[in-house]
Amino acid sequence: MEEKLNKVLEAFTKDLEGANDLAELENLRIKYLGKKGEVTSLKKSIAKLPKEEKPKAGKLINQTSSKIEESLAKKNEEIKAILLEKKVKEETIDVTAHFDKYESGHFAVINQTMEELESIFQNMGFDVIEGPEVDTVKYVFDDLNSPKDHPARSTSDTFYINEDVLLRPHTSSMQIRVMKEGKLPIRMVSAGRVFRNDEVDQTHSPMFHQLECLVVDEKVSMANLKATLETFIKEMFGEDMNLRYRPHHFPFTEPSLEVDVTCPVCKGEGCSSCGNTGWSMELLGGGMVHPKVLEACGIDSEKYTGFAFGLGVDRIAMVKYGLDDIRLLYDNDKRFIEQF
Ligand code: PHE
Repeated sequence: MEEKLNKVLEAFTKDLEGANDLAELENLRIKYLGKKGEVTSLKKSIAKLPKEEKPKAGKLINQTSSKIEESLAKKNEEIKAILLEKKVKEETIDVTAHFDKYESGHFAVINQTMEELESIFQNMGFDVIEGPEVDTVKYVFDDLNSPKDHPARSTSDTFYINEDVLLRPHTSSMQIRVMKEGKLPIRMVSAGRVFRNDEVDQTHSPMFHQLECLVVDEKVSMANLKATLETFIKEMFGEDMNLRYRPHHFPFTEPSLEVDVTCPVCKGEGCSSCGNTGWSMELLGGGMVHPKVLEACGIDSEKYTGFAFGLGVDRIAMVKYGLDDIRLLYDNDKRFIEQF
């Protein structure tokens, strides 16, 4: 009997080694311990043994079947552990997978530029305010001392919604809105979209962006305007950027000026992009607030003076990033956008 059992055990051990999944284990259990299993049939054969051998044979069979059961249980645990590990591996979410598909976006160059400008002025103590893109003829032209026959008033220059309401062609209407609030002194900037009936070309677009600046206080002078402009230009473009002031005319400032800066392409040497002048296209217009404008807003022009300017945000971005075409800012070409 002992010999037979050892053989069975040997065969079982071999079978067990080859078993790789739970179904195979179950088959082994049936093969050895099942109703017609090998150990079971040996158990049955005890009946035929001489009486004195029965107890020993019974004990040996029980030991063998316990061993088989233990081995099966152990192997069962091992297989389960392997399966679990495999499952965990297969189901792990790889958070880095397909990363390229989910690139995150960022603000457009124009918005980045507006934010940068606003924060420069904020650091200089200016309030940042927002204004409407649709405004009234009164705020856009009348209160800004614009003569009735000023060319900017014509429908060929400005988009009207009706006789009194239009898409603002400049942010200067914000000067009126703030001055009419009546809180003095004023130190504000206001950036946003403006609209003009312009043909699209390298430097023009029917929608572009301006930043308006207005300061009203006692004893504000042209020197304050120049100092503010110079501080801001150097902050935005660096110390080697120079400014050129040219006399100009605006109905709402007197005297008025326009400002150019060093050509960003040739750094002032003269090149084809600046027509060999060494200066950029005009970046901004400004001047001392016209007394008539102050009076239209109920401010005593004997006591208070002010300066104002409006700068082209798109042109600032073009100078800053060396762009030769304003349309790049609106085309939404990914190859361009991704560079910022
Ligand atoms: N509004 C003028 C323009 O759009 C710029 C300007 C603003 C000029 C403020 C003087 C004062 O060209």
